[in-house]
Amino acid sequence: MSDLDIQQTDDGNLPVQKITWKMTLKKICCIGAGYVGGPSCAVIASKCPAIQVTVVDLSEERIKQWNSDHLPLYEPGLDDVVKSCRGRNLTFSTDIDTAIQEADLIFICVNTPTKNFGIGKGRAADLKYIEAAARRIADVSKSSKIVVEKSTVPVKAAQSISNILQANVKPGVKYQVLSNPEFLAEGTAVNDVLDPDRVLIGGEKNSLGKEAIEALCWIYEHWIPREKIIVMNTWSSELSKLAANAFLAQRISSINAISAICEATGADVSEVANAIGTDSRIGSKFLKASVGFGGSCFQKDVLNLVYLCECLNLPEAAAYWQQVVDINDYQRQRFANRVVESLFNTVTDKNITILGFAFKKDTGDTRESAAIYLSKYLMDEEARLRIYDPKVEKSQILRELTHPCISEDPSRVSKLVTIHQDPYEAAEGSHALIVCTEWDEFKTLDYHKIYQKMLKPAFIFDGRIILDHEALIEIGFHVETIGKRLSRKPVHRSIAPSTQ
Ligand code: NAI
Repeated sequence: MSDLDIQQTDDGNLPVQKITWKMTLKKICCIGAGYVGGPSCAVIASKCPAIQVTVVDLSEERIKQWNSDHLPLYEPGLDDVVKSCRGRNLTFSTDIDTAIQEADLIFICVNTPTKNFGIGKGRAADLKYIEAAARRIADVSKSSKIVVEKSTVPVKAAQSISNILQANVKPGVKYQVLSNPEFLAEGTAVNDVLDPDRVLIGGEKNSLGKEAIEALCWIYEHWIPREKIIVMNTWSSELSKLAANAFLAQRISSINAISAICEATGADVSEVANAIGTDSRIGSKFLKASVGFGGSCFQKDVLNLVYLCECLNLPEAAAYWQQVVDINDYQRQRFANRVVESLFNTVTDKNITILGFAFKKDTGDTRESAAIYLSKYLMDEEARLRIYDPKVEKSQILRELTHPCISEDPSRVSKLVTIHQDPYEAAEGSHALIVCTEWDEFKTLDYHKIYQKMLKPAFIFDGRIILDHEALIEIGFHVETIGKRLSRKPVHRSIAPSTQ
C-alpha cells in the first residue's frame, strides 16, 4: 500500500477521532516479562516517573520473582533500577487483561523462538506468542491503543498484528502498530537501554501513524537525544533488527573461520583480529574468536533471515546467511574434537570440568550456550562432566542437558553430570578443564591450586581466549586454545629425554 492510499483511507469515509497520544499517554503495558520486557520497561519507569508502567506475563512464577528480592534474571544494575520504581510507577502482574485495558501504549515483548515443527521448521520464527498477544489486545481493549512490536520478528509481522487488531476492532477503538526493535544485549541490558547507539521506530506515514511515532519518541526523549531516534517505514525497521543481528553473528563466524586457518598454519587469531580491527573500515568489536556464539537471538534471527530469503525466492542470499550458522556449528564441533584428540583420543569415563555454562559473561541465560553443545558432544563420548557457573542455577543446567534435543536418555545426565558451587571443588580429580564462558573470575582463579587438584597430565582448553597461557604452561598445564598453537613443555616432564 502506498503512502497516498493510507492517507486516503484515513481521510475517507471512516472519519477518525483526533487522538493526541502524548496528552493521553499515562499508562504503558508491557506483555512479556523476560530479558527484554523486564529491563527495558524498568528503565522506562525510572526515566518517566509520570507514566504508570505495568509489565505482565502468563508465567506466575516469573512475576512472583519480579516482585521479590531475587529477580528472575541476573543483569548488572537491574536490581537498583527495579527497586527505585517498583511500587511507585512500576508494577509486575499476571492480570494481563486489566493492564491492557488501562494502557494507552502496549509493548509486545514476547518470545519469538525458532519453529520446531511444520512449515519452516528449524528456521522460521514461531509467531504464536505474538499472535496470542495481539488477539488478547483485540479481545479486551475498550479504548484506542498504540501497539508497539518490540520482539524480533520477520518482516511484515507488524502488518499481521495490525490485521488481527483491525479484524476484531470494537466500535470507537483505533489501533496504531509500530515497530520498535530492541537492541539491548544481555549482560549490559540496563546500560544499553539507558544509553543506546540508536532507537529505531517504524510506523505508517499517515497522520495517525506519525502521531503514534511522535508519542513513542516522546517517551524515549525523556532520556535519549532526539538525534539518536531514527524513524523509518515499518518494514525497514523490522528488517534492520534481523540484519543487525545477522551482521554481528557474521563477524563472529568470520573470525572463527579465520581461527581454523590460524590453528592449521601457526598464525595467532588474536593478532590477526587486532590487525584487522584497527582498520577503521572494519572496527574492533565482535572480532573475538571463541568456541562459538550462543544466546537466544543470533542463531534464531539469522535462521529467520534465511527463511525470509527462501520465501522470497532468493536461494543465493539464503545460502550466504546459512553459512554464518554452519560455521558456528563447525567451530563448536571442531573444539570438541580437539578436546577428545588431545585427551589421547578418548574421554570415556574421564572427568572434565566445564567452567561457565551461561552463553556469555554477566548473564545467567543459557539459551543456545556453547557449553550445552560441548557437553552434549562429551556426554555422547561418555565423559563425566563437573560443571561450575557463578550465576546459573543447578536446575537450569540440568533442564538444558536433559532436553530431548541434547539427551535422548535423560537418566544418563544424572549419571554423567555433577554441578558444583565452587570452581576448585569442580576441578578436583579432573583430567581436563574447559573454559566455556568468559566470566572475569576465571581469569583470577588460583591455577596453582587447581593444578594440584587435577590428574596429570592436566589439560586446560580455553574456549574464550581469556587465560594467561604462558603462566599456565609454566605451572605445568597442557594448554589448548582457539586460533593459536601454543608451544609447551613436554607433557611427561618426569620422563628422561629420548636419546634418539
Ligand atoms: P523471554 O523468553 O525471556 O521472555 C518472553 C516472555 O513472554 C516470557 O516470560 C513468556 O512467558 C511471555 N509471554 C509469551 N506469550 C505471552 C502472552 N501471550 N502474554 C503474556 N506473556 C507472554 O524472551 P526475551 O529474551 O525477553 O525476548 C523477547 C523478544 O525480544 C524476542 O523476540 C527476542 O528475539 C527479542 N530480543 C531479545 C533480546 C535478548 O537479549 N534476550 C535482545 C533483543 C531482542
